[in-house]
Amino acid sequence: MLLDNNRRNPSVILPSEITPQEMFEQRRQLLKVAGVAATSVLFPTHLQAAPTLDFQKTNYGKEEKLTSFEDVTGYNNYYEFGTGKEDPARESTLFKPSPWAIKIEGAVKQAKTISLEQLMKLAPLEERIYRMRCVEGWSMVIPWLGLPLKALIDWAQPTGNAKYIEFVSYNDPRHMPGARIPVLDWPYIEGLRIDEAMQPLTILAVGLYGKVLPNQNGAPVRLVVPWKYGFKGAKAISTIRFVEHMPNTTWMKASPREYGFYANVNPSVDHPRWTQSSEKRIGAGLFAGRIKTRMFNGYDEVGQLYAGMDLKKYF
Ligand code: MTE
Repeated sequence: MLLDNNRRNPSVILPSEITPQEMFEQRRQLLKVAGVAATSVLFPTHLQAAPTLDFQKTNYGKEEKLTSFEDVTGYNNYYEFGTGKEDPARESTLFKPSPWAIKIEGAVKQAKTISLEQLMKLAPLEERIYRMRCVEGWSMVIPWLGLPLKALIDWAQPTGNAKYIEFVSYNDPRHMPGARIPVLDWPYIEGLRIDEAMQPLTILAVGLYGKVLPNQNGAPVRLVVPWKYGFKGAKAISTIRFVEHMPNTTWMKASPREYGFYANVNPSVDHPRWTQSSEKRIGAGLFAGRIKTRMFNGYDEVGQLYAGMDLKKYF
């Protein structure tokens, strides 16, 4: 994610300025040439030994070529653990995502708390292979393990005033070095309209590649909305609040001109500073061409949620 140059805090070095994806890939190549197994540097054994989860296979994304586990867990955006792409993997190793509970509050029959264990019993865990498109212009294909967010919404029993849902990420500067720096307005907040949240593609992910979610990907539970830019996917969710009005999300506060509430993948609405019409698939290699970005990231079935809306205005 990039902040508007005019608004950015000059003491903050943007991730794009220090670790662009090309540099990341080049460095990996260098490590390989030097005879160092890149995986052993980037992926400590504890990650590869993460507990496995039981899940049901689904047809979602069966035809896609998966992005490697190394790239999915080594090239991340998670500003609570630093603004560089490789910071989250390195800086989140001591973070303890258990025990965990999510507060459910706002326009619900009764405010309550749900533990991770309870949450995982609300519906069978499913594998969902999703294309993920980052607003910065790159994409991945990730085999998530999760359950439909709808299962939690049904359990929460929202009232008629619940028009939107706000997702609040855990924030503890003692254990999250990036959260000590005011690069964003903490805690990280994202939001969805209630019908977007109920859409069957929207999941709460608790794992990937058959295993428990790594810390850098948002352990123990994060949002995944595959037709929207990746920043919608709040990590390490600690509160889910049902609200009447559109939440003021972290990236809207950081740069409203650049990051809208809807954040639907839309090749015809460019970011003010770069095109959104194409994307680079992470791991495809330095010389691979760019891929054409598809409306709603190719998840056409969500189009009906926005019937009659001007998606240039509501970007
Ligand atoms: N959630 C929190 N709490 N903090 C963050 O900085 N970054 C977002 C999103 N969720 C972010 C976050 C952005 S910009 C992206 S692209 C995705 O997480 C990246 O998810 P990944 O690292 O698992 O690919």
